[in-house]
Amino acid sequence: MEKKQWYKDAVVYQIWPRSFCDGNGDGIGDLLGVLSKLDYIKSLGVDVIWFSPLYPSPNEDYGYDIADYRNISPDYGDLDIFKKVLDECHKRGMKVIMDLVVNHTSRQHEWFLESQKGHDNPYHDYYFWRKGKSDKKPPNNWLSTFDGDAWEYNENLDEYYLHIFAKGQPDLNHDNPKVREEVKDIMRFWLDMGVDGFREDVITWISKAEGLPNGIPIPVACGLEHYTHGPHIHEYLLEYKRDVLDNYDCFVVGEAPMMTPKAALPFIEEGDNQQLDMMFHFQHMEADCFMTDPIPVPFSLKRMKKAFSRWQYALEGKGWNALYLENHDHPRIISRYGSEAYHDESGKMLAAMYMLQKGTPFVYQGQEIGMTDIRLPELKMYEDVSTYNAHRLYKSVLHFPEDKIMNIVKKRSRDNARTPVQWSSADNAGFTTAEKPWFYINENYWKINVEDQEEDPNSLLNFYRKLIKFRKKFQVVRDGIYKEHYAESNKIYCYERVLGNEKLLVICSFTDKPVEFTSPAGYNLEEGKLMLANYGKNMRKHNTFKTRPYELRVYYFGDKA
Ligand code: GLC
Ligand code: CA
Repeated sequence: MEKKQWYKDAVVYQIWPRSFCDGNGDGIGDLLGVLSKLDYIKSLGVDVIWFSPLYPSPNEDYGYDIADYRNISPDYGDLDIFKKVLDECHKRGMKVIMDLVVNHTSRQHEWFLESQKGHDNPYHDYYFWRKGKSDKKPPNNWLSTFDGDAWEYNENLDEYYLHIFAKGQPDLNHDNPKVREEVKDIMRFWLDMGVDGFREDVITWISKAEGLPNGIPIPVACGLEHYTHGPHIHEYLLEYKRDVLDNYDCFVVGEAPMMTPKAALPFIEEGDNQQLDMMFHFQHMEADCFMTDPIPVPFSLKRMKKAFSRWQYALEGKGWNALYLENHDHPRIISRYGSEAYHDESGKMLAAMYMLQKGTPFVYQGQEIGMTDIRLPELKMYEDVSTYNAHRLYKSVLHFPEDKIMNIVKKRSRDNARTPVQWSSADNAGFTTAEKPWFYINENYWKINVEDQEEDPNSLLNFYRKLIKFRKKFQVVRDGIYKEHYAESNKIYCYERVLGNEKLLVICSFTDKPVEFTSPAGYNLEEGKLMLANYGKNMRKHNTFKTRPYELRVYYFGDKA
């Protein structure tokens, strides 16, 4: 089938269902809630909805531990309601992609329950079961990224199973051809139903080094050099593509932690061997932390810019970028790279900063109104398994004092992004009619909510709408070549996009202090048209100006405006 590239024109909206909207009043977000908001999502200019896992799950990692790949969790509805959502999306011209989590299953999945029954059970080899070392030690020194040791002991079998993530997430053995057939069947199940593609969870980690050798001893995720780019990864992904994905008009975005552009190209370079349409890397999300999240460091704009530019340059003419600043795994972006004090200004600047690059933009629920971190004060208030793991690491390995640990937790917990969406200033932010929502609601819902922003033409929400319209109207945003200016600045991010005789100049200040800005060589702002900005209309035509806090200006040069 001729591969369509509609995803290059698309804007994707991510729903983390538990916190999106509660439709039946039990305090948990669900598909009825989603149905009631489809017109809202469409009104943003969105073309595709990505659902974080909707499947039955014991929620040891909130849906990323799947107990049944072919069903919908009763918390969220059932297959009939899902089909209705799918249908209503299609009617509105929106596509739907599902989260495909096949690096691991839940420990409640029937395959895993079977696999524990004995060595000759047909499902035993679906997972990595291994004998321990003679001295009652696990088979190797790997550490999980979420949960202490990467091995859990089973007395019955006198064997350990591998879990790169939490204990409740045993790794599937993709070296077993039966497992690969199961994965293909799952893909077909959803594609045949009419789903338009997948976001594939940690998909670049599914091939483990032969013999599972010891890793270089580091205090977290020890062993990662043996699975982040395993020996059969390209082979397996090509198999999934040729046997299934190529037969459908679908697209696939793969999540790829610890990925560099050089390592990425063999997955995403357009051509016969392409395995993924695009990829979520993490490099631009590490401008204020190490190892993606748990270890905070001061924000460095240069670090962020370098990461964006590196990917823009490396993929030009070869592959396609996935652009994002938020999802369910990272704290809220205004609280990180922007400023809560300049909420609207920095929110708008950040939105244009990433959405006007080359690639397909993803928007995470609540990002469009600028939801901010909740910073819950006590450990026991948190839900996220990786938050508890980080706490344990800081306490027992690094021996940090409790107050210091809690400061880190407040800043870095994934739960910051998982509070219910703030729909209005009514009780429980209009998220639920239940007395108590499943999780804490950020108290700032009285001032940050959808309803109020709908009424204000200058709100962040309406800015997102404008921005998405702008993206779609000007081909230079889709296809223009990217080039960064002033790469050495630690206060300004400035880049251009060029397509034929059309040009775009994007100027972003990342500080509340005034910065003297002079337009780069070859740009006369007096000839440009200011298309998007986050301040009033004065002083916009000079080639040298002092920036206002978190100021954004987007100039267009050409004859199409
Ligand atoms: C991905 C998901 C994250 C999950 C992990 C394990 O990184 O986005 O939420 O915890 O994989 O499935
Ligand atoms: Ca509900």
